[in-house]
Amino acid sequence: MTIAITAVSGQLGGEIARNLIATHPDETIIGLARTPANAPELGIEISPGDYSQPEQLRHSLQGVDTLLLVSGMDAPDLRIGQHRNVIEAAKSAGARKIVYTSIQGVEEGTAFSAVVQSNRQTEADVRASGLDYAIGRNGIYIEPDIDYIDSYVARGEIANSAGTGKCGYTTRAELAAAYANLLTRDTFNGQTFNLYGTPITQTQLVDFLNGAFGTSLTYREMTPDDFIADRTAELGDFIGPIIGGIYEGIRQGIYDAPSDFEAVVGRPHQSWEDYFGKLSASATGS
Ligand SMILES: NC(=O)c1ccc[n+]([C@@H]2O[C@H](COP(=O)([O-])OP(=O)(O)OC[C@H]3O[C@@H](n4cnc5c(N)ncnc54)[C@H](OP(=O)(O)O)[C@@H]3O)[C@@H](O)[C@H]2O)c1
Repeated sequence: MTIAITAVSGQLGGEIARNLIATHPDETIIGLARTPANAPELGIEISPGDYSQPEQLRHSLQGVDTLLLVSGMDAPDLRIGQHRNVIEAAKSAGARKIVYTSIQGVEEGTAFSAVVQSNRQTEADVRASGLDYAIGRNGIYIEPDIDYIDSYVARGEIANSAGTGKCGYTTRAELAAAYANLLTRDTFNGQTFNLYGTPITQTQLVDFLNGAFGTSLTYREMTPDDFIADRTAELGDFIGPIIGGIYEGIRQGIYDAPSDFEAVVGRPHQSWEDYFGKLSASATGS
């Protein structure tokens, strides 16, 4: 079987490719990348795969049986058409199955909802494609909170609008384990799965970060409007409201929902005690 992974130059696509190469050595894994030069050295064939280039996609997907479509990063209205290009190219290239990395969230009521709507539209397009399919709704990545540790330390706190809401975070490595199964096992076909670990509050997150990095961070709650303004000032008009909207959703309890991770992977999601314990060990070299 030939399995193609789109956006293999990105962190999630790269992680899924690495997982499949290690766990399914008998399958042929290929990568597609909008910018092939950005792809990591994986020892697999990398073909051009810009979601805006239907002809290029059709060419690169020839001979592919199963395709993983990683959600794009463009504005929501552009994304829908780009994802349709990938779905149509997979169909016309003769692929049998498509797996889509969607997102957890609600379609109305937060500044992130337009992105969620675009992901739900692509889910509908995948279901209507006539191909076999499986869909994952990813939780929020926890890694950016690790990447941000120096900036949190500089401020002495984590401040956002989540309040006491719990968030079902995940890691790209755990998602890769789930997507490897969705791609290679047909028992999951025709279904949609929530993929994340045990939901935690921001106060719990701060405690985990303090434990792992020896910091003394505190948590401060902001209003949704203030946090969106804060993020927009730092990250701009597109990403700022998206980040603010995610925390608005955490505050509303949207990300505190049952996960299907164990049903897909056959074991529980990595616990946050284990994840942060390993970070702590690597930080101290123990
Ligand atoms: N769950 C979460 O918390 C969360 C957070 C952020 C994003 N996301 C979503 O998850 C996806 C994967 O995350 P990630 O960590 O892998 O992000 P990432 O490391 O930033 O990688 C994004 C990837 O998308 C590719 N890409 C962007 N526009 C494209 C296009 N028009 N055609 C083809 N490829 C395109 C990029 O290619 P280039 O190398 O050419 O730039 C890159 O490979 C994101 O794209 C986003 O939809 C989820």
